Amino acid sequence: MKGIILAGGTGSRLYPLTKVTNKHLLPVYDKPMIFYPIQTLIDAGIKEIMIVSGRGHAGHFLELLGSGADLGVKFTYEIQEEAGGIAQALGLAENFADEDDVVVILGDNIFQDSIRGDVSNFKGGAKIFLKEVSDACRFGVAELEGNKVIGIEEKPREPKSNFAVTGLYIYSNNVFKVIKTLKPSARGELEITDVNNYFVNDRTMEYRILDGFWSDAGTFESLLRAGLLIQKNSKNKNLE
Ligand code: DAU
Repeated sequence: MKGIILAGGTGSRLYPLTKVTNKHLLPVYDKPMIFYPIQTLIDAGIKEIMIVSGRGHAGHFLELLGSGADLGVKFTYEIQEEAGGIAQALGLAENFADEDDVVVILGDNIFQDSIRGDVSNFKGGAKIFLKEVSDACRFGVAELEGNKVIGIEEKPREPKSNFAVTGLYIYSNNVFKVIKTLKPSARGELEITDVNNYFVNDRTMEYRILDGFWSDAGTFESLLRAGLLIQKNSKNKNLE
């Protein structure tokens, strides 16, 4: 299993913070944002990690992270020339993945849960991780029936559930074939929700509902909330 962190996109919602640096290098409490998805992958036992970034300030990732040797992993870097969507960014990792299955995490998503068991027990198809939220219309939203996902809608006006699809996915290697069949959405992007719906329709999509905290950090509000969650958690840890 290989790991892929998607850190492309423009960061326009965080302008002017993103004028002179990349969104994923901004601080979330005491660390650069990208340290959190890296930690989630390392905790899951992943040793080979590709970082896909946009052109803006891409060299800063290398300066910050280097080869990965000090973390006991190997980083590989790829550039997404334009923000053509999350699925497009993932498609750039095809050669890196080679024949392997992949864990994909969005560079602005912060998770408390470990997915170590999900990675080691993965049997093919795809797996998504859901979190109950009060503002589901900001996210991909899963419609559930029993223990199955029956559909996912991207930022629906009237969500069919409160279960947001978080930015963490496990895919079998055929995800790269699926991406090649996608057409751009109304916002001009190759959508990860279309990739996920392929596996839903194929009846090979599994899901887990996360217990721990989760936040994205791509808007001023969510960036602040993510920092406060980390701060609260590290204070609790200090008390243990
Ligand atoms: O945070 C979870 C949500 O992330 C999911 O619920 C949605 O289904 C999914 O579409 C995504 O929604 P956002 O609109 O919040 O995605 P955003 O455009 O903010 O991109 C999130 C990350 O994905 C960003 O930090 C880097 C990566 N990305 C995004 C785009 C558009 C890329 O690597 N390349 C891209 O072209």
